Amino acid sequence: MTITIRQITPVFAGEVSGIDTTQPLSGEAVAAIEAGMDRYAVLVFHGQHLTDDAQRAFTRNFGTLEASPGGHIATAAERRLPLDMQDASNLDRDQRPLARDDRRRMFNLGNRLWHSDSSYRALPAKYSLLSGRIVVERGGHTEFADMRAAYDALDDGVKADIEDLVCEHSLMFSRGVLGFTEISEAERAMFRPVRQRLVRTHPVTGRKSLFLSAHAGTIVGWPVPEARAFLRDLIEHATQPQFVYSHKWRQWDLVIWDNRQTMHRVTRFDETQVRDMRRTTVAGDAMTVAQAA
Ligand code: OGA
Ligand code: MN
Repeated sequence: MTITIRQITPVFAGEVSGIDTTQPLSGEAVAAIEAGMDRYAVLVFHGQHLTDDAQRAFTRNFGTLEASPGGHIATAAERRLPLDMQDASNLDRDQRPLARDDRRRMFNLGNRLWHSDSSYRALPAKYSLLSGRIVVERGGHTEFADMRAAYDALDDGVKADIEDLVCEHSLMFSRGVLGFTEISEAERAMFRPVRQRLVRTHPVTGRKSLFLSAHAGTIVGWPVPEARAFLRDLIEHATQPQFVYSHKWRQWDLVIWDNRQTMHRVTRFDETQVRDMRRTTVAGDAMTVAQAA
């Protein structure tokens, strides 16, 4: 089958046809997807009836699977998915929606804020692959913003001001924004801030992008309130409608995004309904700032 990609917005995102991600792929098919990711930054595949094993096998075409530890407050006993998958659902191990005030649900609400996956890790993620196993009828869209287009649209003065800035990212910052502040000593140690450049360059295309995320809470060398006010300005700029694609899920959609070039968030939905979304993540291959791993 021939692979075709139709661009979705005037700026980015592509809808792919001619690929069955549940089956082993040829080297050419993998190269076509990678080239599509470099160009469109977000790719949508419909009708992909993935199991957890098939999703992990498909993901390994693009690199190493990122492991979950360090990314959540859920204990090993509470986990619904294997350690090399990330649970973006609203469910417990018995496949029931979490109670409204469940601490895990409070933590997951951080996905409502614009972010880049694993920007709180010293080695931030390359791709995320999200499989819509059970989707909701209303809301629960995933929105994406193109951080290359957002960077390009900055004026030259701002580009010069931010070129060498370094931010600190932590899950404590993104959760703190929502007022989720009851974090244990062990969690605090796990969520120790890491450093990320604010402007990064794509290793293949050479395009610059804004590396923003709700996890960013400080700029090195800046007073905290000034840093937060500026990061807020930049996120507001970067998520204007012309830079955004809102994905309305159909069951068995698979969406892949490049965390180095985009931010994303989930929109509100009725959380008494089952929304079973399963993510695999391709680990990054380079830090944006030299630091201890
Ligand atoms: C994620 C995420 C959004 C969603 O899995 O990284 O942010 O729509 N998910 O569930
Ligand atoms: Mn995410």
